[in-house]
Amino acid sequence: MTKPLLSALGGETLSRPPFWLMRQAGRYLPEYRKLRQKAADFLEFCYTPDLAVEATLQPLRRFGMDGAILFSDIVVVLDALGRSVGFREGEGPILEPVRSLGDLDGLGPERIPEYLDPVYETLRRLSRELPPETALIGFVGAPWTLAVYLVEGRGKTDCGRVKSWASETPGEFRKVIDLLVEGIVSHMINQAKNGAEVIQLFDSWAGVLDKKQVLEWVIRPTAVIVRRFRQACPGVPVIGFPRGAGELYLDYARETGVDGVGVDSTVPLEWIRDSLQPVCTVQGNLDNRVLVAGGRALDEQTARILETLSGNPFIFNLGHGVLPETPPDHVARLARRIRDWNGA
Ligand code: CP3
Repeated sequence: MTKPLLSALGGETLSRPPFWLMRQAGRYLPEYRKLRQKAADFLEFCYTPDLAVEATLQPLRRFGMDGAILFSDIVVVLDALGRSVGFREGEGPILEPVRSLGDLDGLGPERIPEYLDPVYETLRRLSRELPPETALIGFVGAPWTLAVYLVEGRGKTDCGRVKSWASETPGEFRKVIDLLVEGIVSHMINQAKNGAEVIQLFDSWAGVLDKKQVLEWVIRPTAVIVRRFRQACPGVPVIGFPRGAGELYLDYARETGVDGVGVDSTVPLEWIRDSLQPVCTVQGNLDNRVLVAGGRALDEQTARILETLSGNPFIFNLGHGVLPETPPDHVARLARRIRDWNGA
């Protein structure tokens, strides 16, 4: 039997859609908070297979998602390229920013296979341990989103510097993007060769760009990545998540070659059904705040999404990651509602 998540990405419409949640592992789970204390530093946690395997499995034991997302972070590629990343509580990633092409000297993808081997070891172990129907999801940050962290040097930002660089000297900025593409393609291929059955590309910062910039810095490099990844790993589907892309979701779905597109909660359900689902499998898009709220709002919005989108190729997910203040009971309730769905 093909795993439900992979069937949906192959274009099948299932009577009960598969589901998983972005950031399904993490601080909203008390068992994660306890496990997290075993490493002082967040990336050290990500690079310790015993801990990363356990963090990946925790939400599955409680909620039985159809997909297990590798426990890691998008910034490991920057760390492996040679720009070491730290984490500060409440701030997210911190690194010495790249502000000119000279700062790229000495950075390159050569170290990735060895440097990120603990991440690949985590995948090898997970592929032995997962239930047979659960798909193993690897992931990477997309070039634009990684460029935001690389150039701004931090997670809390208005993207002013990176946007200025991209618009004032696009020829220079393309070299930053091209370097990131090399690192990303390598990390995707290594993940697939070590057990990842799907790869999700997170472009969390796509929404700060205008139309022309989305075409240039989101869609164009993503198309290159998908083409190169497919050559190396045919048959491993890719889900793209250009958060905040608005009506450009359609251009993204048509032009990048992804198998599935992740949509955020601002995108209207009827538009998704009528415009996007004819082009590719859709994943989304429950508001993560509604999951925090729970109760009737959660039940009603979940039902509306299922009613509108489950008649075409669909994977249930949130519109962005699970928030740390989410009560685990609400996730259990959501999982039950999706599992009980029978297309009514
Ligand atoms: O369950 C999962 O989804 C697996 C693991 C995962 C993490 N980060 C773990 C994490 C995944 C898929 C990510 C992706 C990620 N990381 C994104 C894309 C998704 C998105 O939210 O837009 C981004 C932008 C990052 C970068 C990042 N990592 C930020 C901005 C932060 C700080 C904000 C925060 O939530 O704390 C992180 C830290 C991080 N990554 C944590 C976790 C569980 C929290 C750190 C901790 O537990 O100490």
